Amino acid sequence: MEKLFSPFTINNITLKNRIVMPPLASFLIGEDGGVSDTTIEHYRRRAAGGPAMVMMEACAVSPEGIVSPNQARIYDDRFVEGLSKIVRTMKAEDAIPSVQIHHGGRQTSVKVIKRKPLAPSPLPCPTIRGDVEPLTINGIQELVQKFGDAAERAYQAGFELIEIHGAHGYLVNQFLSKFSNIREDRYGGDIVGRTRFAEEIVAEIRNRVGQEFPISFKISAEEYVDGGLTTEESIKILKILVEAGVDVVQVSAGNDLTAEWICQPMFMKKACLVDSASQIKKALDIPVMAVGRINDPYIADEIIDNGHADLVCIGRGLLADPQMPKKAEEGRFDEIRTCIACNTCMQSIFKRGRIECLVNPMLGREKEMAFIPTKKPKKVMVVGGGPGGLNVAWVAAKRGHAVHVYEKRPALGGQLIPGSVPGHKSELRSLINFQKKQAEIYGVKCHLNHEVNEEDIRAENPDVVVLATGSLPALPTVEGIDNDIVFTYEDVLNGDYPTYKKAVVIGGGPTGLEIALHLAEYGCSMTVVEMLPKIGSGLEAMTKKILLQKLKEYNVQIMTETRLSKIEDDGVSVVDKDGMKLFIEAEKVVIAIGTRPYKELYEKIKSLGYEIHQIGDCLEPGTAKTAIFESAVLGRKI
Ligand SMILES: Cc1cc2nc3c(=O)[nH]c(=O)nc-3n(C[C@H](O)[C@H](O)[C@H](O)COP(=O)(O)OP(=O)(O)OC[C@H]3O[C@@H](n4cnc5c(N)ncnc54)[C@H](O)[C@@H]3O)c2cc1C
Ligand SMILES: Cc1cc2nc3c(=O)[nH]c(=O)nc-3n(C[C@H](O)[C@H](O)[C@H](O)COP(=O)(O)O)c2cc1C
Repeated sequence: MEKLFSPFTINNITLKNRIVMPPLASFLIGEDGGVSDTTIEHYRRRAAGGPAMVMMEACAVSPEGIVSPNQARIYDDRFVEGLSKIVRTMKAEDAIPSVQIHHGGRQTSVKVIKRKPLAPSPLPCPTIRGDVEPLTINGIQELVQKFGDAAERAYQAGFELIEIHGAHGYLVNQFLSKFSNIREDRYGGDIVGRTRFAEEIVAEIRNRVGQEFPISFKISAEEYVDGGLTTEESIKILKILVEAGVDVVQVSAGNDLTAEWICQPMFMKKACLVDSASQIKKALDIPVMAVGRINDPYIADEIIDNGHADLVCIGRGLLADPQMPKKAEEGRFDEIRTCIACNTCMQSIFKRGRIECLVNPMLGREKEMAFIPTKKPKKVMVVGGGPGGLNVAWVAAKRGHAVHVYEKRPALGGQLIPGSVPGHKSELRSLINFQKKQAEIYGVKCHLNHEVNEEDIRAENPDVVVLATGSLPALPTVEGIDNDIVFTYEDVLNGDYPTYKKAVVIGGGPTGLEIALHLAEYGCSMTVVEMLPKIGSGLEAMTKKILLQKLKEYNVQIMTETRLSKIEDDGVSVVDKDGMKLFIEAEKVVIAIGTRPYKELYEKIKSLGYEIHQIGDCLEPGTAKTAIFESAVLGRKI
């Protein structure tokens, strides 16, 4: 870790190590752009965890540039006070405060900004659609001034580096790219023309903040769309921008059509944008920051050591575990709560209007979920060693309770054990390992191969019983369900090499699709049968996009609006939406229609008079995220 924890200088600032938290929209900003205690605590925790620099999320330079009502803003002097509170907090925790300034351009909607979005050309955003208003020359020049004003406010607020958001398909990126800029005036055409808007912004900011103040530019070096930016073209653009005054570049990728390259889901390789960063580093004379699925300090150190980049940006990794840099520096690697790239954070900001994390239930609730030691230590008996049980156990133990976990199987982890068997899900294991390590640190006693019954509870006589007994695969009531060819997820995802060559999965939800891909990767010819018109409901958008692409690559047949009617010795009979009967030949039939709560024990012991709680799947089958959240809340209440 020597390289990762060595200092580095950009213009007039010296970073204590090579770790930077990149901008991550938190949605912890009020609809009036206000910064609250929650926002401050969010940034305080990130700064206190040991990165050298923390970049505040994208702040809008103009009202029509916002992409969500909860976006941070810097387009008026009234925002400076709130921003300076964040600056003071970051500095107090010994991190360099920096900020990103941003305009969404066409990548926003009338609903949010109550007017037509601005764009370089009359080309609507391909995902949001709707009319856009192409910018006039005057309009462009006004915006250049607005970026300059924003930079001045950032400077006044005390930020020590400003980053221009030139990536992810937003306005500056829209100008840079032929994909979104078909102007024929001096702000379009060749690279020089398309770069002019960004170049003028950089020059204006440099003019406002002076020579000594570091300016960063975030670029989507590869957009992965026809006509979009490539690393080769990005190098030419960056050369112009360096000349105009850029000191450091953050190398990202993707735009609205290829968002999986912005926020890479778990299917994508770790550090998958480093090649691009490395090429840029070779071609430019300024420092380069790599970003994108660098969720592991060893990988981060290797990137610096190999000279691929000067700094690494760790975004979701610090949402998952703000203490990651400190833990890595102290060699406490097995205590790191690793980001599993499930993109719950992305999904939650857009779907739930608040930032959440599967592995870190405290995200966005840092104050309300602080650990307060108990004044009344209790004996707590947790039944079930899945993510819910393990989580409640260590949280309660950390607060001072004496906690015992009982697990009927030989290993802890519950459904996450089979869940982590498909190749792209293997990182779920890091979550089990983290929970186990926390349990060990806080002295939780784990009893494996012990199925708890009422007698055990009477014998142990705990003060509190927590039932985290999970759920079991649900089976349809259909003729032939007892046939030997019927499998559940547990039979398939047991780590054994599948020897069969043709299988049908009943159920096109996340688990069914993951099983289909897993078996297809082993050479099995697969069909998925789903009753509903759509498959993959509940999956995060980017994860779903890649999963569906992969299923297509492996030629997995998908039958929607089709119902299982009978299981035979050599396949299944199904009925499609028109009532047509079909037979699908298969050696195995995997049932993945969901799970049912396992709560028999609750029924048996509720009359015994103990304080009893249920959490996770045994309450209602859901996700590990729900189980962890519920257990995190309960663990703080006991
Ligand atoms: C294939 C698959 C993939 C999945 N992928 C994801 C995903 O990507 N993201 C996500 O968020 N969720 C995922 N899930 C769902 C997630 O794993 C569950 O929602 C989560 O594990 C529920 O946690 P839990 O602790 O409530 O229960 P479980 O994980 O079911 O754990 C319950 C534990 O209790 C034990 N137990 C039961 N009765 C007793 C008893 N009497 N005595 C002792 N021990 C007992 C069981 O053996 C089990 O280990 C997946 C599930 C599957 C099956
Ligand atoms: C919830 C969320 C919000 C984000 N907001 C921003 C942003 O405001 N500006 C930006 O340049 N990138 C943003 N990103 C992208 C990240 O800065 C980073 O490039 C990306 O998450 C990949 O890095 P990581 O794997 O370390 O998270 C966001 C990503 C996430 C997950």
